[in-house]
Amino acid sequence: MAEFSLPANSKVKIGNTHKAPEGAKRVKAFKIYRYDPDSGQNPRVDTYEIDLDECGPMVLDALIKIKNEVDTTVTFRRSCREGICGSCAMNIDGTNTLACLKSIDDVQGEVKVYPLPHMPVVKDLVPDLTRPYAQLASIEPWLKSKSPPPPTDEERRQSIEEREKLDGLWECVLCFCCSTSCPSYWWNGDRYLGPAILLQAYRWIADSRDEYTGERLDALEDPFRLYRCHTIMNCTKTCPKGLNPAKAIGEIKKLMVQRM
Ligand code: SF4
Ligand code: SF4
Ligand code: FES
Repeated sequence: MAEFSLPANSKVKIGNTHKAPEGAKRVKAFKIYRYDPDSGQNPRVDTYEIDLDECGPMVLDALIKIKNEVDTTVTFRRSCREGICGSCAMNIDGTNTLACLKSIDDVQGEVKVYPLPHMPVVKDLVPDLTRPYAQLASIEPWLKSKSPPPPTDEERRQSIEEREKLDGLWECVLCFCCSTSCPSYWWNGDRYLGPAILLQAYRWIADSRDEYTGERLDALEDPFRLYRCHTIMNCTKTCPKGLNPAKAIGEIKKLMVQRM
């Protein structure tokens, strides 16, 4: 495995190295992106050597160990530790994924840990998600109906087939691994909604109980919001939950054509 290096013109500097404890037998180096925009200093990459015999199996376990035992200033988000909350999304070994689902053993050599790409950084591995959350709010991700609600104690029912149409959509944990791997979102993220939000939009379009399908499609009919997707498929390749946002986008485009 090649030694870790940075391009000569990189503004990111090689930072501090924290050696493994003496006697450690199974040592793995974690190269972690460190940046505090408030400090006025350039980003750097710090190295933390961890004894894998004293660490859990996932990259998130290593990050928690580093924060607890080596350097309390390392900053990252996490909550559920089992791929459900979506908060530990970051770029590990060159791929956007969830740190709690990424096995350390799957990474050959040093483990490079960076924040999700092309997003402003709040600190270290924490991206600023203000924009994608505002975009999520814009698609109104809740059931909207025109008919009166069913009597108390009753629900808006679906057939088994109608419910099945939501499979592959409801499982999205809004980690934004897909959107931050999408070149169209990198360059036009201020106007293009990106795969995560479009998958959410389709989740409500596809819901048989929602009665605002036409209005939802109208809101997406725009050269940027939807049509900046060029089917590059990075989104589907990277989704740590195995979902297919590119397919959901394709389904929205199909519905647009069908109603013309
Ligand atoms: S398929 Fe569309 S949304 Fe997915 S990465 Fe490509 S351009 Fe982005
Ligand atoms: S589609 Fe996958 S990668 Fe995208 S936000 Fe949802 S869970 Fe994350
Ligand atoms: S900590 Fe919740 S998805 Fe990783």
